[in-house]
Amino acid sequence: MKIGVLGSINMDIVYQVQTAPLKGQTVFGSTYDVLPGGKGANQAVMMSALGMDVAFLGAIGPDGFGQMAMTAFVDKGIKPTNVVSVNEPTGIAVIELTQNDNSIVVIPGANLSLTKADVDQFFQTHDTLDGVVAQLETNLATVEYFLQVAHQKQIRTILNPAPAQAITPEWMEFVDVLIPNEHEAAMIFGDIERTELVGKYPQRLIITLGDQGAMYHDGQSVVNVPAKTVKVVDTTGAGDSFVAGFVKEYFQSNQLHAAIQHGIAIASITCEHLGAQGAFHTVKEMTK
Ligand code: RIB
Repeated sequence: MKIGVLGSINMDIVYQVQTAPLKGQTVFGSTYDVLPGGKGANQAVMMSALGMDVAFLGAIGPDGFGQMAMTAFVDKGIKPTNVVSVNEPTGIAVIELTQNDNSIVVIPGANLSLTKADVDQFFQTHDTLDGVVAQLETNLATVEYFLQVAHQKQIRTILNPAPAQAITPEWMEFVDVLIPNEHEAAMIFGDIERTELVGKYPQRLIITLGDQGAMYHDGQSVVNVPAKTVKVVDTTGAGDSFVAGFVKEYFQSNQLHAAIQHGIAIASITCEHLGAQGAFHTVKEMTK
């Protein structure tokens, strides 16, 4: 099964602090790590851990972070054939982990440089894809074009509209399955009650709800899929792992409910590890 992913590549600078500083305050943190991340890269490497063949379209800058990100990519089974090098810094994310939560600032850098020409080049290289996946951490116009071209080629399209951006509901004309969280759904569809919203797109809109699981409409009624209870170490990348787990099962069995359950299972494992891609080896072992 071969999936095309258009997405971001970041290096994540992750630091741990007991309590987040107040405005104007300086506090000591405890540890920091520099780890591979980026929503697109996270989803791609988790798909690879799950045994999928992934063709990745992304961009890095001519710097050390770009090289680190590529090394991590290749180690995790992604061929960097369609990763373009541009004259912008590689994307980074600064991630603050406190006792209960995380907060993230992303500087997209090179990720915003991907063009429609890169998309054309990508589809010339990869003309037998089972599906494509994108997020919103790269250039919006390029993501839109990528999904439209795939749709025209009758390749199934999945969009995880993260981080939240004001795309329009018309994107559903070329997106087969949309996977937003509550905030992203509100950004796209406005102030509409979520049970009513999923009813408008049966089997095509999955709203993820963090530790409450996920919900969708099966054509008859609203279905809630519960989360698992886990010992949380770091929730960074849980949404990305959900998408990867979902994609694997969805393209394998075409069963939406089973795909959501699989997404939740993979997201749960990610929450038990530090770093967005920290669960890669565990998931790979499990899939053998
Ligand atoms: O979804 C988690 C990811 O968001 C992190 O890896 C970080 O790079 C940001 O893009």
